Amino acid sequence: MNESVPSSSEPILRLTGVGVTYPGGTKALSPQDLEIHEGEVTILLGRSGAGKSTLLRAMNLLVSPTEGTVSCPVLGDLSGVSKIRKHRRRTGMVFQQHQLIGRQTALTNVLTARLSRFSTLRSLFALPRPDREKALSCLDRVGLLDKALQRVDQLSGGQQQRVGVARALAMEPGLILADEPVASLDPATSRQLLTLLRDVCRRDGITLVISLHQVEFAKEFGDRIVALAHGRIVFDDTPEQLNEAALASIYEGETPVEKSDSRKTGVDASSTKDPALAAVR
Ligand SMILES: Nc1ncnc2c1ncn2[C@@H]1O[C@H](COP(=O)(O)OP(=O)(O)OP(=O)(O)O)[C@@H](O)[C@H]1O
Ligand SMILES: [Mg+2]
Repeated sequence: MNESVPSSSEPILRLTGVGVTYPGGTKALSPQDLEIHEGEVTILLGRSGAGKSTLLRAMNLLVSPTEGTVSCPVLGDLSGVSKIRKHRRRTGMVFQQHQLIGRQTALTNVLTARLSRFSTLRSLFALPRPDREKALSCLDRVGLLDKALQRVDQLSGGQQQRVGVARALAMEPGLILADEPVASLDPATSRQLLTLLRDVCRRDGITLVISLHQVEFAKEFGDRIVALAHGRIVFDDTPEQLNEAALASIYEGETPVEKSDSRKTGVDASSTKDPALAAVR
């Protein structure tokens, strides 16, 4: 069951023996091999706690693997501040709670995606006109040009998430990682958001990885489904192959998350004291 979908496209990202054990000993991800293919929509599916966010965040080193390596053809092994920073610049993130600044306008939030291109000193001043135009065009693509100057906390949940998509697009990424982007939206708005995300990525040739827990959306929007249970990949195939037996292996047999000793501990870069990771936050 754990066999990669044959694909003619090149891997844009390769995870080799990647495992994550968090501080405290929670083994969120057992060592896994996974290649993400260029131009595809890959869905990470699984119940709560299965390890979807951990695997997704390991793909841009927001969670640091305690075992194995993450690599991409352009940069090789993603180790060291410089490579991680370069990788992150070409990787857009869309979060469940969108992580926008509520008091700021939609435009300002999208512009933050352009800041990483500039030095700290340069980013203290207004960004150049082309960057502002780029941010506006990204808002236009998600249908929110008319909301560009509206505060984000005055937008609906679906609109806020579209600002999150615009922010990811403004990075001009080769890869977008979306962690449960529709978890707090109603089904109709969820379908609209996922359609938008898939369509803009297809048009721009952006590779897309989305974590979801809804099977019907996974089947509708994925070129490939990678399902996790208890920190392991238990299914990796096309949506057509996701039959009852496969679903049973994903959703049945709940067992406690394995605890291990804490010698190898995963580090979430958002709270790390590791200088290499902290520097690229
Ligand atoms: N920062 C952390 N520190 C310690 N344990 C963590 C941390 N983040 C996640 N975990 C644990 O790792 C396991 C996998 O969590 P993860 O968030 O990857 O699952 P998930 O599939 O994304 O779940 P959900 O659908 O609820 O978002 C869980 O047991 C979780 O409690
Ligand atoms: Mg999650």
